[in-house]
Order: sequence, then structure tokens, then C-alpha cells
Amino acid sequence: MSQKEPLAIIILAAGKGTRMKSDKPKVMHDIAGRPMIGWLLETAQSLNPQKIIVVTAPGMDDVAAAVAPHQIAIQKEQKGTGDAVKPALEFLKDFNGKVLVLLGDEPFLDKAVLEEMIGWNGLSVMAVRPLSPKGLGRMIANDDGTLHSIVEERDASEDQKNIRLCNAGNFCIPSSHLGKWLSQLQTNNTQGEYYLTDIPKIAEKDGYLTYVVETDVQWVWGINTRAELSEHERMAQMRLRDRAMAGGATLIDPNTIYLAFDTVLGKDVVVEPNVFFGRGVRVEDGVTIHAFSHLQDVLIKAGASIGPFARIRGDALIGTNAKIGNFVEVKKSTIGDGAKANHLAYIGDCDVGKKSNIGAGTITCNYDGFDKHKTKIGDGVFVGSNSTLVAPVTLEDGVFVGAGSVVTHNAPKDSLIVARSHQLIKKGWAALYRARKSKNKGS
Ligand code: UD1
Ligand code: MG
Repeated sequence: MSQKEPLAIIILAAGKGTRMKSDKPKVMHDIAGRPMIGWLLETAQSLNPQKIIVVTAPGMDDVAAAVAPHQIAIQKEQKGTGDAVKPALEFLKDFNGKVLVLLGDEPFLDKAVLEEMIGWNGLSVMAVRPLSPKGLGRMIANDDGTLHSIVEERDASEDQKNIRLCNAGNFCIPSSHLGKWLSQLQTNNTQGEYYLTDIPKIAEKDGYLTYVVETDVQWVWGINTRAELSEHERMAQMRLRDRAMAGGATLIDPNTIYLAFDTVLGKDVVVEPNVFFGRGVRVEDGVTIHAFSHLQDVLIKAGASIGPFARIRGDALIGTNAKIGNFVEVKKSTIGDGAKANHLAYIGDCDVGKKSNIGAGTITCNYDGFDKHKTKIGDGVFVGSNSTLVAPVTLEDGVFVGAGSVVTHNAPKDSLIVARSHQLIKKGWAALYRARKSKNKGS
């Protein structure tokens, strides 16, 4: 065992991802709110490598941005997984140690299994027995059980296709032999590609037997299609829900609650069914999130109550014990401690002070067709139902806005604002009207 040997990791991500039928590079498809390559990078980093090199194709700038500050090697033409490792070699000229080659379309790797591969003094490969082996390379054994070769499904005979043990795709290779073995790869296969999977056969000639580390997997392995992407999403969700519950949150029906990779739920948070968490949501202790709410980019402070049917997004902050009720949208706003917007409102680009009450139907008119403007609402303000606050506008502490007002001017502290047409009263008018109408109808 030589665990302390320096480690470099190469992640292959230059493939076209043809089977995804997408304009986006495959590794940029999201799983629980983050590109699949982000999941893999997190695991790769946890192994403390000296360097991580990500292989991309020309023009994949979004991948380069997603993996910064790691090094990018460009594979000019996609000629197979073996060829893809070659452009990374120039970053390993002075490197002496283990090189772990990972496939960018396998986001969920078990760190312990990778450590076992790295710990082997020689060449190692990861293997799986997934429920559906479709599309995977098969591990062909020698009579004594050692690995003979890996055969891609397209190149496999019917007998070989019946082999359940598959190539997981990841190799750990001594840097001393990597360049030499890669240079011996050939393209004599149905795809005319340089297969990384041919390395074991080549290594054997140099006296290296490949150590096969099998990892347990009950589901599909690797993402080549949208169906496999959704299967990985399902796995990610299961793990994230378990993590949230282990942290002390109650998820009433976990299967209907969608979490993002970075969702943080505090203790005694209760989440009712059908709630969606986008990226950047932090929920403090004792918060209840009622059914059918959609949250993104928000800090919800302790004891607050959200929904049902609430939408919160865009760098929002909901204060301690505040209430955001049904059919309320909050965008890029702060809601003060104990403030309430219980029904049907749009609060955008707005600061609401402590214990203010936003009546049903209140709308902040934050957009003039060109620019966004701010509404400032002080502490203890009462905004009557169906009011329209035309930003930029400020309501100072203690202001009372009469229902149905269109507020266009700033309101000083503790003032009453009534900005609507006066009520007209004509006594007896309705009775006269009905009498006249029914007489006409009768004649
Ligand atoms: C590969 C393995 C297969 C294994 C499976 C596990 C080979 C030849 N086959 O097949 O044995 O069971 O993974 O998931 O290795 N890539 C490049 N440049 C290329 C080609 C691919 O960077 O020229 C990258 C892709 O972006 C992808 C990864 O390598 O992230 C794997 O390529 P993919 O085409 O998905 O290989 P599989 O057919 O899945
Ligand atoms: Mg693949």
C-alpha cells in the first residue's frame, strides 16, 4: 500500500454526449440544482489530490467556468476515452505518483472505493453490477478470476453480454506508465476509437495485473441518456432527503419534496408535501413550510411560516417568526421579524420592517418597463388590502395605508395614506333603479 504517494486526478468531460440529444455539454446537466460535474469535483477534491485536470472539447467554456480554478486540457477531436487522457499528460510532466482517471458522466462515486483503488500498488479499475448493465463494458475474467480484458458492449459477443460485472469506467494508473500505455492504444474496434478500457491488456504485457475494485450499485451507472439523468436525480433526492431528516427536519412525504444540493434545513423544520427547493435556501430552526411552495435563494429565519403556495426567490430574507401566506410571491426582498403577508401579494425589491402587515392583494410596482425600483416599508406599517405601491416609494414607520390605495408618494411616520377615489353615496338610488328596470321589462 502506498497511500501517501502524490495523487493527480483527470476528469474526462470532452465527449459530445450525443445520447443526451442536447445543445449543452453532458456534464453541465443539473442534478439537484448543480451540474453533474460539480458533484464529481466535490468527491475528487475530498481525496486531496495535488492537481485536478478536466478534459474538455474546444468551445466548452461553460464547463471550464464551472470547474475553475482547476486546470483544463483540451481534446481537439473526440476520439475516445483513451485519447481523451492524452491532452492531460502535458500537465503531468513533473508529476510522479498515482493518476486517477474519472469519467465526467459518473457524478456519484464512493470515496472509500476510490481510496481503495488509489491504495493499490499498481493499476486498478472500478467495477459495478448495476440492475441495468445496458451500454456498459463487460469485465472478462481469466480462468483464475483475474481480469483478462474489458469488452465494450458494442464489441461484445452474446455470451459476453451476459456477464453482469461491468466496467465502472474509472482507473488508477501509475504516472510512470501512463504515457507509455496510452501510446499503445489502437482503434481496432467497432467505433474506431481509442478505448481507455484496453489499458489492462497492454499493462499485462508489462507484468501489471489489474486490481478490480467492485462497488455496490443497485441502480443504473453513468449518465448517457435523459432517463439515466433522471435516475441519478432520484438517487440524489433520496440522499438529500435522508440528510435533511437526519438533521432533524420532518419531511411529511419525502418523495414529493425536492431539495437542492445546498439546501440547509434546521432542527424541527416541518416541510409539507410538494415543496420545491431551488439552490441557495437556508431554513433556520422551527420553520414550517406549507405545501406547494417554491423557494430559491432565500434565508428563512427561525420560527417563520411559509405558504401554502408561496414563491420566494432572488436573494430574499424572511425574518424571525414572519409569515408569508398563500399565493404570496417575494422577490429580492427582506421581510422583517414578525411581519406578515398572509394572502395574495407581490413583494419585489422591497424592505419590509418589523411587525408590518401587508394586506391581501398588495402589489409593489417595482418595474417601469426599463428599471427596477425599491419600495421601503418601515416597522409597524399597515398596508390595507389591494394597495398598489409604485416604486420608488417609502412608507416610514407606523404608516397606515387605506385599502385600495395607489401609493405614489413617500409617506411620513405614523401618517394615514388614502389614495383612491372618494365613495359616492346616493340614498335610495338602488331601489329606484330596480323599480324602473322591472317596470320596463314587464311592459
Ligand atoms: C465508458 C466505458 C465503458 C464503461 C462506461 C461506464 C470506454 C471505452 N468505455 O463507456 O466501458 O462501462 O464508460 O460509464 O471507456 N469522453 C471524452 N472524450 C472522448 C470520449 C469520451 O472526454 O473522446 C468522456 C465523456 O465526456 C464522458 C466519459 O469520457 O464523460 C465517458 O464517455 P462515454 O462516451 O459516456 O463512454 P461510455 O460509452 O459511457
Ligand atoms: Mg458514459
